[in-house]
Amino acid sequence: MELAGKVALITGSGIRLGRAIALALAEKGCHLALHYNRSAEDAQEVALLARQAGVRADLFGADLSNPEAVETLSQQVQASFGHYDILINNAAVYLKGSGLDTSAEMLERQFRLNLFAPILLIRAFARQLPQDLMGKVVNISDAKTFRHQTDHFAYRLTKHAINEMTRMYALELAPRITVNAVAPGIMLPLAGFEHVDMQALGEKRVPLQRVGSPQIIAENVLHILAQDFMTGAILQVDGGENL
Ligand SMILES: NC(=O)c1ccc[n+]([C@@H]2O[C@H](COP(=O)([O-])OP(=O)(O)OC[C@H]3O[C@@H](n4cnc5c(N)ncnc54)[C@H](OP(=O)(O)O)[C@@H]3O)[C@@H](O)[C@H]2O)c1
Repeated sequence: MELAGKVALITGSGIRLGRAIALALAEKGCHLALHYNRSAEDAQEVALLARQAGVRADLFGADLSNPEAVETLSQQVQASFGHYDILINNAAVYLKGSGLDTSAEMLERQFRLNLFAPILLIRAFARQLPQDLMGKVVNISDAKTFRHQTDHFAYRLTKHAINEMTRMYALELAPRITVNAVAPGIMLPLAGFEHVDMQALGEKRVPLQRVGSPQIIAENVLHILAQDFMTGAILQVDGGENL
């Protein structure tokens, strides 16, 4: 797919990975529907940078843990741009807790945002895409799904489900829409852990002896968007950490 002139909706586009993906798409000439929840100012900055790169960038605030807000988001993007060609499901929440620590409230919070919202967005995306156009969905998964561990239990479950849902929608939406996922490995410190030496962590845990970056993941999203004979793939980008 040629990205110039296309329209992409990116969830959680104000910060970190979502921001890098949005700016990489803007560099390729893709117009942006920038979703944010709390990071309104950051999203405005991304919009400014994207416009400087010569593309249109509109902002859409929504709490995606609310299914009605998910529907409204898609309708608002469609109303602004006519239609959109690309959906990047990036927004997620990462809660600590083993299986025994996991409460109903944690499960609900994680599943609503990390799984239900992407599913509802894919449905809405497929509905709004004109029948004669091709569409592309990229879900952001997690390379942790290539290995079984039980920390961040509910989060891991949501990302295992993202992988399955990616393959299932790839089947259901072919041939008009491709659905793939990128599964990043260690990349950025968590909020509150900015003091962690990520380079040292990479040397210790990752066979390629370094951590990834939002830019590396954004490059892999662009790679997927350039492919027309690839659907249902989960691209593991983790320096070999989960081999
Ligand atoms: N960071 C890593 O090392 C890593 C590794 C593997 C996979 N991943 C995956 O990569 C993606 C991005 O990770 P990240 O570390 O860049 O994200 P992050 O810092 O955890 O930010 C989460 C994003 O989700 C959005 N969000 C949170 N609650 C929301 C809600 N209720 N409604 C709508 N949006 C909401 C946030 O938007 P606002 O800020 O606007 O509220 C933010 O853009 C996630 O899917 C994550 O699971 C990350």
